[in-house]
Amino acid sequence: MNLLYALPRVPLAGGPTPLQALPRLSAALGGPTLWCKRDDLTALGGGGNKARKLEYLLAAARADGADTVITFGGAHSNHARMTAVAARMLGLEPILVLTGTPLDPPVGNLLLDHLAGARIEWAPDYGAGRDALVADLKAELARAGRRAAWIPGGGTTPLGAMGYVRAALELRAQCEAEGIRPAAMVCAVGTEGTWRGLRAGAALARWPVAAHGVAVATPAERAGFGVGPPQGFFAEMAALLGTPLDVPPAAIDEDHVGAQYGAVTPAAVAAMALALRTEGLVLDPVYTGKAMAGLAAAVRAGRYGPDDHVVFVHTGGWPGLAPKAAAIAAESAP
Ligand SMILES: Cc1ncc(COP(=O)(O)O)c(C=O)c1O
Repeated sequence: MNLLYALPRVPLAGGPTPLQALPRLSAALGGPTLWCKRDDLTALGGGGNKARKLEYLLAAARADGADTVITFGGAHSNHARMTAVAARMLGLEPILVLTGTPLDPPVGNLLLDHLAGARIEWAPDYGAGRDALVADLKAELARAGRRAAWIPGGGTTPLGAMGYVRAALELRAQCEAEGIRPAAMVCAVGTEGTWRGLRAGAALARWPVAAHGVAVATPAERAGFGVGPPQGFFAEMAALLGTPLDVPPAAIDEDHVGAQYGAVTPAAVAAMALALRTEGLVLDPVYTGKAMAGLAAAVRAGRYGPDDHVVFVHTGGWPGLAPKAAAIAAESAP
């Protein structure tokens, strides 16, 4: 027994999202049988992984009596876009604290943030300047008699990661229905919430599947996201679930970041082209293109054999193409 299905949750993601066979991509890579968990198709504001985290985070915000939601991200954050839309759907006011360079006119996620009517505040940095701005915003709202919920960047908290515990259980049921036992689930690793959630879900279900996480940010950049080490995080998840959680340690695949978070790499653009040409999957340059580059490299290196099944967890991110259009076009020119 565990408390997963007793945790307060507002349905935002729809689903179950499809588990799609990828026969043409499998043939093109010449290795294992590949599948795709289509979390790019979650039913919230253009889709993506954050919908699952927000189901829990916004249920908690509502239970706390919040009328406003403040979150943080880069200028082109998928998380910020999905939080803004989800807040609107629940009648909450979205405030986005963003870093980076505002594009004029806005494109991609930033354009959608504008369309969703989110209030946008630009933070000078990821650290003290951001924290001071958020503190000022909270004080301003409190003076106006309003109550704000704070959602950390990426929605990565032990509660938010429950969305991916749920996703792992959903995926396991789909794999059983297909009669397959996958060797691994492959996903992009940013703030680690998706990857940690999948691992916790597999541990909870005693499902022997590896979670192959492909980094999209350098270790130093990831440390800056401020999520904290896994042991304490999994312990908090176990407390929420009301059951011990024995999550085996796992290493992150660090080989596909490029120079830094957000850098457009030739391998990611090649993976984007391959996925689109073989299976009609739209990947993005910042997250899923790099995760697919990691999967393709692992297949080429023989990490997965011809008898294996491997599930690529598509976490969305298509609005991330627009701000990187020039670099993608330059990399994919014939
Ligand atoms: C499209 C997409 N994929 C993957 C990720 C990484 O997820 P996480 O931050 O949970 O590691 C993100 C995070 O912003 C994302 O937007």
